[in-house]
Amino acid sequence: MLKMLVHMHSGFRWIVLILLVAATFKALMKWRSNAPFTEGDRKLNLFTMVSAHIQLLLGLILYFTSQKVVFAADTMKDATKRFFAVEHSVMMLLAIILITIGHAKSKKAVEESKKYKAAFTYFLIALLIILAGIPWPFRNLGGAWF
Ligand code: HEM
Ligand code: HEM
Repeated sequence: MLKMLVHMHSGFRWIVLILLVAATFKALMKWRSNAPFTEGDRKLNLFTMVSAHIQLLLGLILYFTSQKVVFAADTMKDATKRFFAVEHSVMMLLAIILITIGHAKSKKAVEESKKYKAAFTYFLIALLIILAGIPWPFRNLGGAWF
């Protein structure tokens, strides 16, 4: 059961990343070309946010069930334990909050260019934080590609 959740959370990262990269790139392109904000833009931003919320929900369940999250005397000294107990969750939570704010600001803005500016700015910062917070295999934290 737990293993299945880890696989879902691990694989779902790619959905979040693809949507986030697409939404960020699209917002930048349309912002620069002064194109009108369409129903498709609104949906892409919404799906990006929903994918991040689903990943948050999976992550929260894992946080309270995973054997990688341990609170011991050496948690802060051990890089892998510290990563899963603190770094990963705090960075991802922050990124998901930024995506939610970006989506809300983009939705509420009246001026078209402000819709794109909000989405682009918040999504880009969130993307960088997420890329830095993923336990990529080359970081030797025990993470996989899928
Ligand atoms: C721990 C889990 C979750 C938390 C803490 C959370 C938190 C939030 C918050 C604070 C908002 C308000 C954003 C706003 O007003 O702009 C929101 C909106 C929303 N969330 Fe989540 N969420 C979670 C899980 C999910 C899941 C699992 C889904 C979908 C499967 C989801 C879908 C949505 C949708 C569709 C909205 C409304 C977007 C809109 O108003 O346009 N959330 N969520
Ligand atoms: C966009 C947000 C997130 C992404 C892209 C993401 C991605 C990942 C990835 C790729 C792994 C490694 C899985 C593997 O291959 O072994 C992982 C593990 C984990 N994540 Fe996240 N995560 C996100 C958010 C969160 C949040 C918000 C929490 C907790 C509050 C969380 C808790 C965990 C835990 C506890 C593990 C270790 C699970 C285990 O191996 O037992 N994640 N995450």
